Amino acid sequence: MALIYCLASQGPAVALDLSANEQAGKRLYREGLSSSDAQLTARVGASDISVPASVLPCASCHGNDGRGRSEGGVRPPSLDWQRLALGQGERESNSRRYPAYSDASLARVIRSGIDPAGNRLDPAMPRFELTLADQRNLTAYLKRLGEERDPGVQENTLRLGTLLPQQGPLAEAGRVVRAVLEDSVEQLNRLGGVHGRRVQLVVQDPGYDPVSTQQALQALLQQQVFALVAPVAPLLQTQALERAGVPLIGSTPRTGGASLVFDPLPSVPEQLLSVALHARETLRLENLQIVYAGADQAADAEALRQRLQQLGWSPPPPQEAVATQAAGEGIVFVGRAQAFAELAGRLQAVGRTPYLFAASAQVASAVPGLPAQWSQRVFLAYPFVPGDWTAQGRAALAGMQRRQGLDARQASLQVSTLCAWRLLTEALQQVGRDASREQLLAALEQLHDVDTGLTPLLGFGPGRRQGLAGAHVVAVSLPGPRFVEVAPYRAAAQMP
Ligand code: HEC
Repeated sequence: MALIYCLASQGPAVALDLSANEQAGKRLYREGLSSSDAQLTARVGASDISVPASVLPCASCHGNDGRGRSEGGVRPPSLDWQRLALGQGERESNSRRYPAYSDASLARVIRSGIDPAGNRLDPAMPRFELTLADQRNLTAYLKRLGEERDPGVQENTLRLGTLLPQQGPLAEAGRVVRAVLEDSVEQLNRLGGVHGRRVQLVVQDPGYDPVSTQQALQALLQQQVFALVAPVAPLLQTQALERAGVPLIGSTPRTGGASLVFDPLPSVPEQLLSVALHARETLRLENLQIVYAGADQAADAEALRQRLQQLGWSPPPPQEAVATQAAGEGIVFVGRAQAFAELAGRLQAVGRTPYLFAASAQVASAVPGLPAQWSQRVFLAYPFVPGDWTAQGRAALAGMQRRQGLDARQASLQVSTLCAWRLLTEALQQVGRDASREQLLAALEQLHDVDTGLTPLLGFGPGRRQGLAGAHVVAVSLPGPRFVEVAPYRAAAQMP
């Protein structure tokens, strides 16, 4: 099994603290620059053409993390100090066999391309003319280079982390997400993993309150995970992620983390914009009242009001559900299932059944319990519907459900988890073997038109952290309930 539930925690990740000489060595390694004014030269290829070393810094071939590259013919080997110089015995790379490097033989191979056994290196490795001081700095840095990798990236494994509750109200969601992730990891590793690394998933249980969630997140970060995928938690405070620069791909409720969190799904206000638009364009409702339940929903309600204003509407200020007189013909509801059911009950008690608009992700579980009076009065926003599924997407989903014994009726959570996984692995593939968190963030940001076969095309962009930007509109018939799509997916950008 690829999943590990971690009980013990290891020491926290330490930021790499380099001496002045090591810093200078790092500059040479990454940029080809001397610590003096000297212009360093590299001689390239079999014919010894001289170019500035800044054109061909070590990192351009061996990678920022010194792990080398697997592509190409004669490959730049890993410069891990352990592999090059420590311990006894012969080493081998590119079919050359040689004893351990010393500081002196390392200087020689960089200067003349001769290894400790006297073998001549392939001319693909340039010869560098370095000053004595530069060579010393470079060697000092190479001894630390192995520590330079971001946490979670090892020679043969890549560690990803997630939070999945085993008890409490979110335990069922935790179980479903766990099965989807476990299955996805297994499928990926069977195909060789990502760039030669097997993926390992580290799981912590967040419990069911914000304090235990916070502790679980800390524990997860201490276990050196490269990124977080599809966590399930009541509310995630992302400061700890931000401090450590850890990307998160998933849809959990959270505060903060604007730049590091990539959510495959649209935000609640964006989803609600689609239903509000349907209310006006198709149902011809003139006045919509935004109603929210709970202080934690007020910001989303206000965000929605502002979006509607940008579209030229003038909705009244959002009202709290408990206080609402809701005189209008239509209510856009922001809040959870229980509060939605209560609102419907209160309205019905005073003989009113206005149109109710809400995000399926928030209220779906209350819908089957609504009385028949609400038939065709409730409209829900869905980021994706089964109509989006291609034959291939459908088959992949069904295969996973079969392997993991998952209920096809819980497809929504399964699909959003698959989307998070797909976006993460797509970005990891693009980053290549020399993976850093910084590069992962850049690669995520550049993803566009990712075809999951289960949703509209997903993608992000500079400053754009939501994979989808709109929703389908679905009408609810009761009793049943039966769901009928009444307006197709439309991205916010395509709204008037
Ligand atoms: C243009 C690509 C390129 C650049 C730039 C480059 N290398 Fe290399 N390097 C290689 C290749 C390819 C090999 C493998 C040659 C072989 O095995 O015959 C290699 C081999 C080596 C080796 C030998 C490792 C072993 O296992 O024997 C060392 C050490 C090394 N490089 C260090 C450096 C350093 C330090 C720099 C920067 C000053 C640097 N390289 C710049 C491509 C490069």
